[in-house]
Amino acid sequence: MTSSHEKILVLDFGSQYTQLIARRVREAHVYSEILPYNVPLSRILDEHPRGLILSGGPSSVYDRKAPSVHPALLEAGIPVLGICYGMQLVTHLLGGKVARAAHREFGPAELQISDHSGLFKGLANHNHRPTVWMSHGDRIDVMPPGFQAIACTANSPVAAMTTVVPGRSIYCLQFHPEVAHTEGGTSILRNFVREVCGCQADWTMRSFIAEAVESIRAQVGHKKVLCALSGGVDSSVAAVLTHEAIGDQLTCVFVDNGLLRKGEGDIVRETFAKHFKMKLKVIAATTRFLSGLTGVSDPERKRKIIGRLFIREFEQITHCGATSNWLVQGTLYPDVIESVSFKGPSATIKTHHNVGGLPAKMRLKLIEPLRELFKDEVRELGRELGLPDVVIGRHPFPGPGLAIRILGPVTKERLVILREADAIVEAEIRQAGLYPKLWQAFAVLLPIRTVGVMGDQRTYDNVVAVRAVTSVDGMTADWARLPNEVLARISTRLINEVKGVNRVVYDISSKPPSTIEWE
Ligand code: XMP
Repeated sequence: MTSSHEKILVLDFGSQYTQLIARRVREAHVYSEILPYNVPLSRILDEHPRGLILSGGPSSVYDRKAPSVHPALLEAGIPVLGICYGMQLVTHLLGGKVARAAHREFGPAELQISDHSGLFKGLANHNHRPTVWMSHGDRIDVMPPGFQAIACTANSPVAAMTTVVPGRSIYCLQFHPEVAHTEGGTSILRNFVREVCGCQADWTMRSFIAEAVESIRAQVGHKKVLCALSGGVDSSVAAVLTHEAIGDQLTCVFVDNGLLRKGEGDIVRETFAKHFKMKLKVIAATTRFLSGLTGVSDPERKRKIIGRLFIREFEQITHCGATSNWLVQGTLYPDVIESVSFKGPSATIKTHHNVGGLPAKMRLKLIEPLRELFKDEVRELGRELGLPDVVIGRHPFPGPGLAIRILGPVTKERLVILREADAIVEAEIRQAGLYPKLWQAFAVLLPIRTVGVMGDQRTYDNVVAVRAVTSVDGMTADWARLPNEVLARISTRLINEVKGVNRVVYDISSKPPSTIEWE
């Protein structure tokens, strides 16, 4: 879809910040994609990237299986930016010397810049030393031949370096320009893509829409298409974008699988009737999903079963001859990256419904127009397409729904408890004006019961965990420091109003090492 655009490729060596690099490049209006470090050289060259960024990573170049690239990549005439491990790798491959870490350097450092052109153009005046974020073990001892240092810090004599050989354009940074803590980091990456790689920087949401519309039309021709609508931001934006491309050829399908939030079906029906003139088909599938999930506790099995049943509903419709076999899904870039991590499938954290949870064999062909976008880009796209704030501002909701927030087997009774609990959490968060400030806030039903006392009666009932997190894109998240009064109100209401709950706990884990959802 974006092949005609100038593109920056980010090769991933496993840094927790890799996605941030791609985001920052896109914020500079240049399209950027992440590839695992070990894709074949020919694949990289076929993409005709305007520049390459080698990410950081946890390895040392001296590790027995240290991740590396084909040395020819550095000779291909493509501008390169090596960050942290990327810098050490360039040094190692081009004949410099990397010193093994005596100790790690982690946190802020003052950067003394000696060359204010190229990468550091306009960054700071000569008296100011910007604070940059370090996170490394090994460091550069001897630069490769033909390189010179362009910045240093108290602990790193070579905090940044570049080639002085004509015709070769390689920059390396020991610190992380992509993290918010690095002052001027965005400018450094913008300078790389614009000044060093010479990109025009014409990637905008408007251009994305125009290209996506073209691409969807070319893909489906005059065929009829289904769109799996969940009411969430992603599928709604995917539906409106596809509708823009093919109008009435599109039918949206909302599968009421019984695993949705309270009132979700009505919200979807009302929103789509009010704001969009799209065909909407609602399928009542609660019984099929609940019987498929009977007795299943394992989170991955739940995801797989739901993915399979979901696709079966769509195959059923296409089987009835109503449409062709095209299905639009609101899959996002983080779903793609998290489902196929750079280490390969063995490192999959969770099978995300939109991607990994789909059956290997299915008759449906997928259209995923948002596959290259991050969540905040999807929200921007939604605004551009005229979606109302109620849809755009809605907290994300996982495809497998409440099933992965009921730990242990999913039953009708437990769904009733969780749905009520979740509605109270959302209502109180909205009431306190916190809803737009949080990435997500929801309830989780735990698989244990505890003793309580209500009135004069001993109770032995369920525990609800409340989860509220802040995040920019769901890739990393911090637990929200909710005001005590809000927590108190949520707790009182949950215990008083939801039959079967006698205890409430608050989840104070960040991602990583935890995840946002409990399953
Ligand atoms: P985790 O739990 O992996 O979640 O930290 C990150 C974000 O993704 C959402 N999520 C999903 N979204 N299908 C989806 O469409 C899924 O299977 C799925 N699992 C998690 C989660 O709500 C959070 O916003």
